[in-house]
Amino acid sequence: MERTSRMDHTLRIGETQFFVRTEGKGMPLLLVHGFPLDHHMWDDVLPMLSEHHEVIAPDLRGFGCSDGFREVVPMEMLADDLDALLDALGVARPVIFCGLSMGGYIGWQMWKRHRDRLGALIQLDTRAAADTEIQARARGVNAMQTLAAGMKDVPKAMLPKLLGESTLQTKPEVSEALSAMILRQDPRAAAAAQRGMAQRPDVQSWLPEISVPTLVLCGSEDAISPPDEMRSFAEAIPGAEFVEIEGAGHMIPMENPAATAEAILLFCKQIGIEEV
Ligand code: MLT
Repeated sequence: MERTSRMDHTLRIGETQFFVRTEGKGMPLLLVHGFPLDHHMWDDVLPMLSEHHEVIAPDLRGFGCSDGFREVVPMEMLADDLDALLDALGVARPVIFCGLSMGGYIGWQMWKRHRDRLGALIQLDTRAAADTEIQARARGVNAMQTLAAGMKDVPKAMLPKLLGESTLQTKPEVSEALSAMILRQDPRAAAAAQRGMAQRPDVQSWLPEISVPTLVLCGSEDAISPPDEMRSFAEAIPGAEFVEIEGAGHMIPMENPAATAEAILLFCKQIGIEEV
């Protein structure tokens, strides 16, 4: 099926209803959002990317306009959801998988579980290591607090970590958009994803086996998945390219959308999978 103009799809897969936005034409580019967000985190890069690609931007299980709540949502389940969504959209050819943070954790699982789906991998502001015991325990506590109190305290706790100092100082509109997106999310989805992320595996031993072209992008001010850590896991992936996005923290598509889109499009062009 050929898609050019923007389309919003509601797709039922089993008991679950998923929202997916598609736009553009060309080699499919699957954009997978981070935590606790939805497809709107790609709003600023989507118009640039969809000039060259068929962009597919879903809301993951429970987030945005998708449902399908569980007590725990493992990254494996989210990868299986994406595989089923691509089937439902009739996308038969391999996609360029582009995930941010939690979206990147799902990217590792796509590689492990649905390798035939991947034409290339773009990992934004993410980690290959598992949580430490302390981090995993903290996620359990956060999940309980979110279920009890809702999302109202989450932006205040998360924004200073998600956004770089440059954005916090000079781009109040980005803080506002991110805060509003977090507040819109369902606490059940946030709690389930926290628990799922706490039990995600350490994938560092998988990295040398990754055989699709890979780009690793990191905000120069990212405090959650810092440049040194990301550069080091990029070096473990054969032939992977590492690019730092200046003046941005963890949320590079929102903080520096022009540089993020440019790096993605250049990579796609260099590996010969851009179609204009
Ligand atoms: C995200 O941006 O998706 C989160 O920072 C991921 C995490 O909590 O590890």
